[in-house]
Amino acid sequence: MERGAKAYQACVACHSLEPGRHFTAPSLANLFDRKAGTAPGFQRYSDALKGSSVVWNEKTLDAWLRDPAKFIPGNEMTFPGIKDEKVRRDLITYLEAADSKPGARRPGPRLPDLRKAPPEAIVKAARHCGDTYFVTTQDGKVHKIWEFNLRLKTDTSDNGPAPGKPVIVGAGMQGDRAAIVFAAIREIGETAKEQCD
Ligand code: HEC
Repeated sequence: MERGAKAYQACVACHSLEPGRHFTAPSLANLFDRKAGTAPGFQRYSDALKGSSVVWNEKTLDAWLRDPAKFIPGNEMTFPGIKDEKVRRDLITYLEAADSKPGARRPGPRLPDLRKAPPEAIVKAARHCGDTYFVTTQDGKVHKIWEFNLRLKTDTSDNGPAPGKPVIVGAGMQGDRAAIVFAAIREIGETAKEQCD
């Protein structure tokens, strides 16, 4: 099991084992005996995966994890495969245990809970002028960020910001990339304004 958990580290950047929690890739909860491309609520499957008639079990997972591109041509999982048969077997055992035992579930990438963001991270206004965003946070500070280094994102999951309380993440770390995360797309237009003075 230990080795299976270790092998699973290769998956956590894209997948979670929590039902309904999708990242770049679909949640791997309740995977066994489910047809490929049918995780409830995941909208980004390739046509290749959706159209395949594969049902996930030990055998199909072994073929998939050995060489995903060969097993379902045209799929969009950017993963080269695991050549070592023993590692694949341990990983599949691990996935199966996680599937049937809630206690064995490990979260995927740990996302900060933006609902609990401190005042210095909650964005009151984001003024854009020239090539710069002037982002005012709830503690009254103004962050000046080059427009190319600021991304505007939405997070509608349980970890996302509270409505009306967009959160800035990554600001101040090396002064480069930052993102403002909004609870809804409507809030982007309400918060970010073109204004020079
Ligand atoms: C770089 C991101 C990434 C990594 C790393 C990754 N996957 Fe995936 N995986 C995806 C994407 C994207 C899809 C959906 C592909 C598609 O729709 O064509 C997927 C699909 C799957 C599916 C099919 C799910 C379904 O609902 O039918 C399984 C099973 C799977 N991955 C297992 C794994 C395992 C196990 C690992 C670790 C060894 C792993 N993946 C690593 C991105 C990733």
